[in-house]
Amino acid sequence: MPHERFEKGAQNWDENQGRVMMAKNIASAICKMVPISPEWEALDYGCGTGLVTLSIEPEVRRITGMDSSPAMLGKIREKVRELGLNNVDTVLADLEKDETPKMQVDLITSSMTLHHIADIPSLLKKLHAMLRPGGYIALADLDTEDGTFHADNSGVQHFGLDREWLKAEMAKAGFKDCGDATAYVAERDTPNGRKNFPVFLVWGRKG
Ligand SMILES: C[S@@+](CC[C@H](N)C(=O)[O-])C[C@H]1O[C@@H](n2cnc3c(N)ncnc32)[C@H](O)[C@@H]1O
Repeated sequence: MPHERFEKGAQNWDENQGRVMMAKNIASAICKMVPISPEWEALDYGCGTGLVTLSIEPEVRRITGMDSSPAMLGKIREKVRELGLNNVDTVLADLEKDETPKMQVDLITSSMTLHHIADIPSLLKKLHAMLRPGGYIALADLDTEDGTFHADNSGVQHFGLDREWLKAEMAKAGFKDCGDATAYVAERDTPNGRKNFPVFLVWGRKG
């Protein structure tokens, strides 16, 4: 079952300039930290409306946007049609429940999706299996926060993540040369006043 917040929010998702700015910065950090080749095939897991997917698209040969929300996938497809792109695929999938897809890619990205996934170690194993040897993973999400980033925490499984914990779990899943950087700092009004929420990028390579 896709989360209701995404089904309802997809239509007007991109009207929030904060989200657009965050995705732009995350995509730039990915392009800076990962030696992307124009020959690569990529997967963006939890692609939403494709804010990151479509920023990575010009850098790779093909990219798949994967998401558990039909409404989000409807939005990315609409954009792909409008832009006349023929190298973007979309797949409806929830790797928390579904078998690991048979596809193999050179790069997996995921932006602001991990905090919605209860069992991250198990997801990392599935993503590892979907990468070709030598392929890269790049994951962006909130650093550990106090639960005030979202006005409504329904569907939120983690109040951000500890990047050191995540890198240790990535290593257990088989990723090598894991690193991290701060990709963006989101500023938001919270019940406790205006606050900064750093967003990390962690990356690793399948040995
Ligand atoms: C906060 S949005 C981020 C969208 C996009 N990556 C971005 O940065 O703009 C999280 C996305 O993850 C998707 N999602 C949540 N849980 C998921 C799951 N278990 N499997 C696949 N997608 C999931 C949601 O449908 C939503 O599109």
